[in-house]
Amino acid sequence: MTDNTRNATLKFGDTTLELPMHSPTMGPDVINITKLYAQGDVFTHDPGFTSTSACESKITFIDGEKGQLLHRGYPIDQLAENSHYLEVCFLLLYGELPTGDQLEDFESRVTNHTMLHEQMMNFFRGFRRDAHPMAIMNGVVGAMSAFYHDSTDIGDPWQREVASIRMIAKVPTIAAYAFKYSMGQPFVFPRNDLDYASNFLRMCFSVPAEDYEVNPILARAMDRIFTLHADHEQNASTSTVRLAGSSGANPFACIAAGIACLWGPAHGGANQACLEMLEEIGTVDRIPEFIARAKDKNDPFRLMGFGHRVYKNFDPRAVVMKKSADEVLGLLGVEDNPKLQVAKELERIALEDDYFASKKLFPNVDFYSGIILEAMGFPTSMFTPIFAVSRTVGWISQWKEMIDEGNVKIGRPRQLYTGATERDYVDVENR
Ligand code: SDX
Repeated sequence: MTDNTRNATLKFGDTTLELPMHSPTMGPDVINITKLYAQGDVFTHDPGFTSTSACESKITFIDGEKGQLLHRGYPIDQLAENSHYLEVCFLLLYGELPTGDQLEDFESRVTNHTMLHEQMMNFFRGFRRDAHPMAIMNGVVGAMSAFYHDSTDIGDPWQREVASIRMIAKVPTIAAYAFKYSMGQPFVFPRNDLDYASNFLRMCFSVPAEDYEVNPILARAMDRIFTLHADHEQNASTSTVRLAGSSGANPFACIAAGIACLWGPAHGGANQACLEMLEEIGTVDRIPEFIARAKDKNDPFRLMGFGHRVYKNFDPRAVVMKKSADEVLGLLGVEDNPKLQVAKELERIALEDDYFASKKLFPNVDFYSGIILEAMGFPTSMFTPIFAVSRTVGWISQWKEMIDEGNVKIGRPRQLYTGATERDYVDVENR
């Protein structure tokens, strides 16, 4: 936080308060209201935190008007084009791009933590075969705190580091095993001679009955999807992880909380909901019917993959994802994929419609990702688990930043109470 001598003057009733203001390196100034209740006996009220800065962070910056997304200052389109996921993980965790030696060491540490404790296999077998993979991921990731006791003490920096590496390394194995379990296929162990994305694809799609060669086009596309979803400032699931971490909960429990939050269709579940919406639309001629429903206040239907709390111009990740969808489907020879055609026409029509323009609704990261994932062979149920695999590094980085700062205060919002005033108990015979 940059020092700042400026104050905001707040007047209400007979009260005048001087509240300190702080200037960021990028983005809007903030008014520090930590003393507001003590000095003014009032709360602020901001359901959904549309105007609230909940923490100080140096990891990711988003400018919704410019459609800008920076990870430690580096634009997401440059990282998606020139970097790769594990290098972005290093950047998010430690703040700088790694040297060659640092990268080699980091990749080796992650690679050598990809296996699960053999007893954890029993967890998967406790689920029904038709369990949603997010339910399995939530359960198994939370259960990691029952296995890796040597990295649950958040007061020990070394244990925090080990837990971070373990989470990044094991979460793709857990997601792949959840996928295999849902298909009744045997788990495929990770391989140390494969890169992160190739390892994940092989764990998902190889079977013991034949050799499996990773398609480099798909591996590059998978790695790019991981990079595009890695972190995103204080979104709902990251805020959930920070809030869980503020109580001192162990990192595995915090990440499980983040997975639970991400699952919602308004958040990470939108990629699955978006593809199901494109399937329901089916053909370009039915688009107007769904546009009308999205605009109808009496219809709860929303265009999935559209709109964003922060981006009010365009989601830079969606721009990269759309280009990747064209590239991947073209290279796979399925560029005439009907869902891709419907998605492009839906985007064109919506962006020309005043309802969406006036409400600044644009395609977000989830609008095109599902089309690529489906072309790679994933069922829609695996879309949000893949988002969770990628976002684990963002959750862990934000959690680590909070704990590393020290003096963590437990998050404990207040409320606007509009319930009953105090009243005496009435016996049932007198009610
Ligand atoms: C992610 O926060 C993050 O950074 C999240 C994320 C990340 O990387 O972590 O970017 C990932 O979650 C992306 C968003 C995925 N969700 C969806 O695609 C679901 C569809 N989108 C909406 O549910 C909605 O746009 C949200 C939840 C994304 C944002 O909601 P806001 O900011 O609370 O906006 P809002 O609900 O107040 O909507 C503003 C207006 C409303 O109309 P009015 O009440 O003002 O008349 O826009 C309308 C909404 O009805 N609106 C939509 C719409 N989204 C908003 N109308 C039709 N279709 C939509 N998709």
